[in-house]
Amino acid sequence: KGLVFSGIQPTGIPHLGNYLGALESWVALQDDYSTVMYSIVDLHSITQPQDPQVLRDNIMDMAASLLACGIDPTRSILFQQSQVSEHAELSWILGCLTSMPRLRHLPQWKMKSKQKNEGSVGLYTYPVLQAADILLYKSTHVPVGEDQIQHLELAQDLARIFNNQYGEFFPEPRALLSGTRKVKSLRDPSSKMSKSDPQRFSAVFLTDTPDDIALKIRRAVTDFTSEVTYEPDTRPGVSNLVSMHAAVSGQTIEGVIRLAEGMDTGQYKNMVAEAIIKKLQPIRLEIQRLRADQGYLESLLAQGAEKARSLAAPVMKEVRKLLGFY
Ligand code: TYM
Repeated sequence: KGLVFSGIQPTGIPHLGNYLGALESWVALQDDYSTVMYSIVDLHSITQPQDPQVLRDNIMDMAASLLACGIDPTRSILFQQSQVSEHAELSWILGCLTSMPRLRHLPQWKMKSKQKNEGSVGLYTYPVLQAADILLYKSTHVPVGEDQIQHLELAQDLARIFNNQYGEFFPEPRALLSGTRKVKSLRDPSSKMSKSDPQRFSAVFLTDTPDDIALKIRRAVTDFTSEVTYEPDTRPGVSNLVSMHAAVSGQTIEGVIRLAEGMDTGQYKNMVAEAIIKKLQPIRLEIQRLRADQGYLESLLAQGAEKARSLAAPVMKEVRKLLGFY
């Protein structure tokens, strides 16, 4: 029933946006597809400067986090992108099919190159590498949050461009969006919750203690209306709390609003914090447990890489043939 592929950057412990926008559905999809692949995309993470030791730790923490969320290595292939060199090889080939203007307006470049005044070539071609990740396995379904839609459109375009030039080969991958496609920053509900946000209180991380979570939710920016309503356009702060609350407790938005009837936003925040703590507590403890077992994590990633390579090699062989390299 198709092949699921997705990736996450090892730039720190995942936050609630990663979890609700992507990871939770990654887990669910393991039941429905025969091949399911999840990659820790370290090649993407070096588009920003990384300290090698910190990067190493982050890769291990990400492996532990994904397992703790419920990624099951017997049902999905969990691997580190750089261990499968075909990603970089296909990225080069796709880069030769991509025009410069096509990349200029994509989000990573627009956001991150501005912060730096000048961005690297790697940052600019970041979405081409992402397209290579997806197409390398002839993936059909890609579960991501809303912020990745434009990157997925590039992957679709490149599949089409490649097929036009070399004959029908890559299926066009489809994005799978979860119910909570965009979790907002707790400090600034006009922007997304982000791992790279320097503000400490802007994101809830999967390893946050109950006290951390309660404090962050209490400090979440809302507005001057005390009633709890769901109006994302006019009341983004409180609506973000409502949508997180619904997602972590498995209820509908209307159900959550009914529960909050008669509460002011201050009282409601306690309820939201409790629901988030309940959801994340077992994940946090499992991350702690797995983090202590580096040997297990390493052997698991080695096995995942081997499986990924065995799927990537025949596809790349075909691609080389189509290009005339043989
Ligand atoms: P990354 O590491 O930024 O995020 C991982 C996943 O989390 C989702 N996400 C969110 N969803 C909802 N609300 C938020 N605030 C939020 N923040 C993050 C992202 O949409 C993503 O699904 N370029 C990708 C990694 C990547 C990839 C791929 C993804 C590389 N190759 C191939 C899919 C297929 C990224 O930086 O994700």
